Amino acid sequence: MSDKLGPITTKTVAATKEQEQATVIMRDKYRYIGPVYDFLSNLYSGKNIHRCKTAMLDVGTIRPGDRILFAGVGHGRDALRAAELGADVTVVDLSETMLRKFAEAQERKAPDLNIRRIHSDIMKVDEFEQFDMVVANFFLNVFDEDMMVQVLEHLIRLGKPDARVVVGDFSYPTGNLLSRIFKKLYWYMAVFIFWLFANNAFHKIYNYPEHMQRLGLQVTHKKHFKLLNMNCYWSILGRKQA
Ligand SMILES: C[S@@+](CC[C@H](N)C(=O)[O-])C[C@H]1O[C@@H](n2cnc3c(N)ncnc32)[C@H](O)[C@@H]1O
Repeated sequence: MSDKLGPITTKTVAATKEQEQATVIMRDKYRYIGPVYDFLSNLYSGKNIHRCKTAMLDVGTIRPGDRILFAGVGHGRDALRAAELGADVTVVDLSETMLRKFAEAQERKAPDLNIRRIHSDIMKVDEFEQFDMVVANFFLNVFDEDMMVQVLEHLIRLGKPDARVVVGDFSYPTGNLLSRIFKKLYWYMAVFIFWLFANNAFHKIYNYPEHMQRLGLQVTHKKHFKLLNMNCYWSILGRKQA
């Protein structure tokens, strides 16, 4: 090695490794599927995913000025709805593509609203006890179960002592055998596509209310959304115990 460049020390190697890791973490996994994400979700669910995502966002649950955080916001029509209801909205996403789609949607639908956008891994957002409501719509399902529990725990910490936490996602398969088989197949088709194109974890459907309760939330409300007369999605409202 030339003297000009200086010796390669353990520190230099460690720094390079850290940079590499940061690049991997910030890699945009939704680069290809991100632009068509909302189109696919409407196609897959006949708008029921959208209904599920906005189920807990209305004048009964949101007061003007409430601080609401949307984790893994995606195109974020739910976040726009909350901002239209007067909430002070912060959105977080790791994907630059998704945040760009969100910005485009906001420019089209609500250019006058002031929404804070954070391009980051949610685990690096450390504004603890700052939010009245934390929303995780179709977000926790991107992680394997151990990581999902860590992320949910982190989201709960971001909420104020009596905050509400909303989880919208595929519902845990219940009902008769045929209905359970249908729901599982329906889920595995979706998870396969996102495993393939976005490198999401491949796993079974999670029982979110059970995890929420175990992490200390009181589950106060569940709303179900049907496809072919079967409950395929649910929105779950949990409250932190002050
Ligand atoms: C399945 S999409 C759901 C998007 C949106 N919430 C919706 O319901 O349409 C998951 C989103 O989470 C984002 N995401 C994945 N891992 C993340 C992380 N560690 N921190 C922040 N966002 C993340 C992805 O970039 C993507 O936009």
